[in-house]
Parts: sequence; structure tokens; C-alpha cells
Amino acid sequence: MNHSTITSTLEDQIALLTINRPKQLNALNRATIQELHDELHALNTNPEVRVVLITGSGEKAFVAGADIKEFADYSVNEGSELAQEGQQKLFDYVEHFSKPMIAAVNGFALGGGLELAMACHIRVASTNAKMGLPEVSLGVIPGYGGTQRLAQLIGKGRALEMITTAEMTSAARAYEMGLVNHVVEPNELLDFCKTLARKMIKNSPNAINSAIKCVNAGFSQDKDGYRVEIEEFGKCFGTEEFNEGTSAFLEKRKPQF
Ligand code: CAA
Repeated sequence: MNHSTITSTLEDQIALLTINRPKQLNALNRATIQELHDELHALNTNPEVRVVLITGSGEKAFVAGADIKEFADYSVNEGSELAQEGQQKLFDYVEHFSKPMIAAVNGFALGGGLELAMACHIRVASTNAKMGLPEVSLGVIPGYGGTQRLAQLIGKGRALEMITTAEMTSAARAYEMGLVNHVVEPNELLDFCKTLARKMIKNSPNAINSAIKCVNAGFSQDKDGYRVEIEEFGKCFGTEEFNEGTSAFLEKRKPQF
């Protein structure tokens, strides 16, 4: 698929999505959100893809937020439509993606950038990354799920401090708060993420998809996570992958998923 603001490569079952607007510090405009949605849709149905990594181009930024130039003169209706469309097309889509998504946070992850990283299942930051939700300094609030996902990840008090001060946090502090899973040197970031991805690729894609659904269900108002877990657990027993996983264990060999 041809895109103007992102690139997508596939190697050893790992897709690497790169947001490619380095001059604007990879700010997310509507076109980028649509292209990410379209590409993710294609990766979702491609059985060759087992894990998706997402990063920003250049050495400075993962994503420095929603594109401020694009929404600077929006009305109330246009503002709420921007948030709704973005959440639906990208942020919720990423959170509920059927394959693990890892954010390789290689620099500034601000506003919509941190919101994108938070929608991913796992975050790995480089030591030079800086993260924050600076929206209130612009007179708005996070609109791509940031008020919800930040509180889920680091707790309400810390989330409100980050949101109300609009200050950036270092990678080390983000790690302490549980906002990122790992912090590594910038030149090791992608290799580290690929090593994580390879560990996932050894496991059943169907079971991983079920596990993602169950964890997400626990954070959804209208779902009972325990009930979803029971259903998904049961469904696993009807899959080829369950036969392969259990047979391999009993035959003392590695499963082939
Ligand atoms: N939107 C549009 N353009 C942006 C941008 C953004 N979010 N962030 C950076 N850019 C552009 C700058 O305008 C600049 O472009 P020009 O060269 O054409 O002027 C270019 O990227 C480089 O940026 P700076 O010159 O500002 O670089 P710096 O090193 O001095 O500062 C920075 C880096 C601290 C990240 C600073 O760029 C910054 O504060 N950016 C905005 C961060 C922000 O407020 N993000 C939240 C956006 S609102 C949001 O995301 C809403 C939502 O939840 C839906």
C-alpha cells in the first residue's frame, strides 16, 4: 500500500510502522490517522504479520501530538468530531488490535503521541524519550483517550498531576510510574522491541488475541472481564493451535504456530 505520511515494512513476521513527518516531529494530522488505520487494517488480515511495532522517523520524536496547525481554527463541533473520529479510527483500533502492538518511543511522545503509545499494548522508550500530555497548555484537553488510559496505566493522582501541570516526564520517571515497560539506549530500541516480538511469535496467535480481548474487557464499562475470560478460555479448546500446543508439550517438542 502506498502512503504519504507513514512507511510500513515487514521482516520475519514483524511489521514496522514508521510515522514519517519528521519536519513536524511526526505530528498526527487527519491524513496520517487515516493512513495508519488503512495500513493496520491490512496488517490485521495478513497472516504473515504476527506483531506490529510503531515508531517515529528521525531521532527527535515519536509523535509530538495531534497536528496543532490543523485544528487551530476548529469549532466546538469540529473539535468533538476530531476526537471521535481519531479515537475510532486509530486509538481504539490499536487498543483492540488482534496482534500485539509495541510502541517504540524514540523521542518526544506528547499529547496524541503519548496517547498513541498508551493505546499500544506495550511501550518501550529510549533513554532520550520525553513524555507528556501538554494539552491544557493549549487550552484543550487530551482528546485521543489520554485522560482515560493515563489514569489506567499510572493511577488517577499521577495522571492528574501530569495532565494539569502539562509537564514532560523523563523515560526513567515514566518507567518508575509504569508508563513504559522498558527503557533502553536509543540505538538498541528497535532491536529490543524485535526481541520482545520474537518471544511473542513463539506463542499461539489465537491465544494472544484472546488474552488481549480479556485484558481490554476488564477496562471496559460494559463488559465483565471475568465472563469474557471464561468465554475466550473455552473457545481456545476448539482451535488447531490448542491441539498443536498441548500435543507439542506431551510429545516434548516445540509447538509450531
Ligand atoms: N503540531 C503541529 N506541528 C508541530 C507539533 C504539533 N503537535 N509539534 C511540533 N510541530 C512542528 C513545529 O511547529 C515546528 O514546525 P516549523 O518548523 O514549521 O515551525 C517543527 O515541528 C519543529 O518543532 P519545534 O521548532 O517546536 O521544535 P523544538 O525542538 O523547539 O520543540 C517540542 C519540540 C517541545 C516537542 C515542541 O515542538 C512542542 O511543544 N510541540 C507541541 C507539543 C504539544 O503541545 N502536543 C500536544 C498537541 S495537542 C493534542 O495532541 C490534542 C489531542 O490530544 C487530540
